[in-house]
Amino acid sequence: MMKRPRRLRRTPAIRRMVRETSVSVDDFIYPVFVKHGKGEKEPIPSMAGQYRLSVDELTKESATVWSLGIPGVILFGLPKKKDELGSEAYAQDGIVQQAVTAIKDKVPEMAVFTDVCLCQYTDHGHCGIIRNGYVDNDTTLEILSRVALSHARAGADFVAPSDMMDGRVRAIRDTLEREGFKETGILAYAVKYVSSFYGPFRDAADSAPQFGDRASYQMDPANVREAVREALIDVEEGADIIMIKPALPCLDIIHQVHTCVDLPVAAYNVSGEYAMVKAADQRGWVEGEKVMMEMLLSIKRAGADVILTYFAKEAARVLIEHAGK
Ligand code: PBG
Repeated sequence: MMKRPRRLRRTPAIRRMVRETSVSVDDFIYPVFVKHGKGEKEPIPSMAGQYRLSVDELTKESATVWSLGIPGVILFGLPKKKDELGSEAYAQDGIVQQAVTAIKDKVPEMAVFTDVCLCQYTDHGHCGIIRNGYVDNDTTLEILSRVALSHARAGADFVAPSDMMDGRVRAIRDTLEREGFKETGILAYAVKYVSSFYGPFRDAADSAPQFGDRASYQMDPANVREAVREALIDVEEGADIIMIKPALPCLDIIHQVHTCVDLPVAAYNVSGEYAMVKAADQRGWVEGEKVMMEMLLSIKRAGADVILTYFAKEAARVLIEHAGK
């Protein structure tokens, strides 16, 4: 007898019932950029619909994000000034620290994640401390631990190291435990590749390296076994959530890591992935909203439990509109 798989596709109700994967607002973390000042809402040219916000505007935005059902935000800070050590990154009155406290005050139930890295804060734009022209791993660990601790003190639920230094999850975990922050979690950017898809973010955060590139610490996109190794190291060192970044060029990696670790897996749908959809949509070349939902679905289907995405608010609105369809 002929096999007829189309029977399961015949009506919307049947399709909805047998659908294997779904995207939910519960999966999202919304990335936001925070800057000094008051009443500031500065559009980011390469990321249509995204802004650099001052703390007062960010707290308003956080309330909107929460009201849409999005459970968390991740904060990226733009410091007043940059220096060799990235010292605003660990200043207790630094921009991210202020923002965390303000959000926790206004929307206490929302999960607040903070990016822990130095590239926005250093004058050379690298993710660590430079010694003899090279990013020095172990000196950087001390600074990163101070950054993470300052975020925990400000009230962050999770710190998210994105620097790709060796041993940083353990260094941060030890520091948090020692200082009494046993409940502060670590979302580890465990598998972070060198990628040109970060371009718009580096505009937004003014964080491009001033010399060389990040290839001596971020991973080579040609490698998959190394991704598994990196993920397992971060599990061992005490991470709570394992992240893969970028998302779309790495669906195979997400899948692979998902099968190898038993912690929640996150994927970062990065700035370039967002910007391309926006640009094509503005020209009428693709239907942006549909492409967005298809992308998010593919990331979920690959095995991500959590998606960091600039689309979070738009996708939440689509999901609300389409509920039960
Ligand atoms: C900081 C950091 C970057 C991103 C997140 N954290 C940039 C980079 O590594 O150069 C990129 C996020 C995005 O492109 O949306 N290290």
